[in-house]
Amino acid sequence: MRVGVLTGGGDCPGLNAVIRAVTRKGIEMHGWDIFGFRDGWRGPLTGAGKPLERDDVEGILTRGGTILGSSRTNPYKEEGGPDKIKAVLADKGIDALIAIGGEDTLGVANRLTDEGINVVGVPKTIDNDLGATDYTFGFDTAVHIATEAIDRLHTTAESHHRALVVEVMGRHAGWIALHSGLAGGASGILVPERPFSVDKVVEWVSRRFEREYAPIIVVAEGALPEGGAEVLQSGEQDAFGHVRLGGVGTWLAEEIASRTGKESRAVVLGHTQRGGTPTAYDRVLATRFGLHAVDAVADGDFGVMVALRGTDIVRAKLAEATAELKTVPAERYAEAEVFFG
Ligand code: F6P
Repeated sequence: MRVGVLTGGGDCPGLNAVIRAVTRKGIEMHGWDIFGFRDGWRGPLTGAGKPLERDDVEGILTRGGTILGSSRTNPYKEEGGPDKIKAVLADKGIDALIAIGGEDTLGVANRLTDEGINVVGVPKTIDNDLGATDYTFGFDTAVHIATEAIDRLHTTAESHHRALVVEVMGRHAGWIALHSGLAGGASGILVPERPFSVDKVVEWVSRRFEREYAPIIVVAEGALPEGGAEVLQSGEQDAFGHVRLGGVGTWLAEEIASRTGKESRAVVLGHTQRGGTPTAYDRVLATRFGLHAVDAVADGDFGVMVALRGTDIVRAKLAEATAELKTVPAERYAEAEVFFG
């Protein structure tokens, strides 16, 4: 048996832990050959990659990024893409693929399953917005990084009597903003799921200043003010229709300064949230996902994604997992609102 493995989409801490678990269990328990494809779906499209031996995965558990490289290549956006993949897999004698990725990568995995390719998915994204799983690995690490930044920003904001707007990642879902904002004691948390009122933000900020405590507002990069994107300059939106990284936080800090007369600064955490070593939680989750993905391949159970439900790793249909993004529910946001202002 020969099993291919790939990592697609934006990288996140824990990818190497999955690759290690797949390689170790595949080789040691099943005697399989493992083939590591380069750069997401670009690998199976072009054949780029190399066999993975135990030595190749030594010492990678703690490393961020992915030893296989990643890309946002989508074979369905390329002329004859799926047929090219079938030809490469046949040529290399690959019986099954383990695709580690988010919404886009696993959406492709789902479509390839319908075309008869044996795929098992492993969910990853720092955004935690994939359906059918309670958590994705990478999220815990991103929340830790953002929380540490907020803790540090509290002291400098206080020293200078400033408001600080911390922009975190989260294109469509505000999970990182919600969790890091709660953990960091933010005066306000703004998420893409809920257009925000600038008047309200100004009220929270002013109330915090009255208590002589520096306000920290955590905003997800995809959050928009009420009235929509027109309030921001339209040029700041990207091809997905969301505000570019660095857009909303900077804009909001300027609004706060002009409406309160208090100095305000924006800090965009950006890709620091995706880099570096995974937390222990993410290492364990990623490792368990990798081990269970191997089990699914061994069982011949394809078109599924491994998923976390409570403390158990289960299998969910890829079609179900990629049907809808998991966004922050209103009741979860309401829990945090108690602390605003
Ligand atoms: O999908 C994960 C994510 O981290 C988003 O939150 C963010 O918008 C995006 O990736 C940034 O991706 P890129 O690396 O392409 O700038």
